[in-house]
Amino acid sequence: MRGMILGALVALVGAAAGEQKPDASKGNETFDEQCSSCHYADRIDDKVGPGLKWLYSKGKLDANGKPVNDANVLGMINRGGKQMPAFKNTLTEEDKSNLLAYLKTL
Ligand code: HEC
Repeated sequence: MRGMILGALVALVGAAAGEQKPDASKGNETFDEQCSSCHYADRIDDKVGPGLKWLYSKGKLDANGKPVNDANVLGMINRGGKQMPAFKNTLTEEDKSNLLAYLKTL
C-alpha cells in the first residue's frame, strides 16, 4: 500500500516536471497522429503540405516567407494555412512545445 502511494507520488511529480521540459519523443507521437497525413518528416518533398525535414535549417517558411523560428512555426500550427487546419484549440500548449522540440530534430 505504502509503495503504491509512493509510486503515485513519484509519477505525479514526474508529470509536473515534464510539463516544463519539451519532450521531442512525445512531439513525434503527436506528429504521427496529427501531421503525418500531410507532411513527410524525413524528406522535403510535398505530400499535401511541404516536407518538414530540415525545417529549422531552411531559413524561411515556404508558406509565408517568414523566418523559421519558434514564434512563426507556432503561428503556422495555431492558425493553419490555405490547406492546413488550425490547431490552436485542438492541441495543448504542452503538445505544441513538444512538437516544436520534435520539429527541431528533423
Ligand atoms: C490537411 C493537411 C495538413 C495537416 C493535417 C497539417 N498540415 Fe501543415 N501544412 C499543410 C499545407 C498545405 C501547408 C502549406 C501552407 C498552406 O496551407 O497553404 C502546411 C504548412 C506547414 C508548415 C510551414 C512549412 C513551410 O516551410 O512553409 C509547417 C511548419 C506545418 N505545416 C506544420 C504542421 C504541423 C506541425 C502539423 C500537425 C500539428 C501540420 N502541419 C498538419 C497541410 C497540413
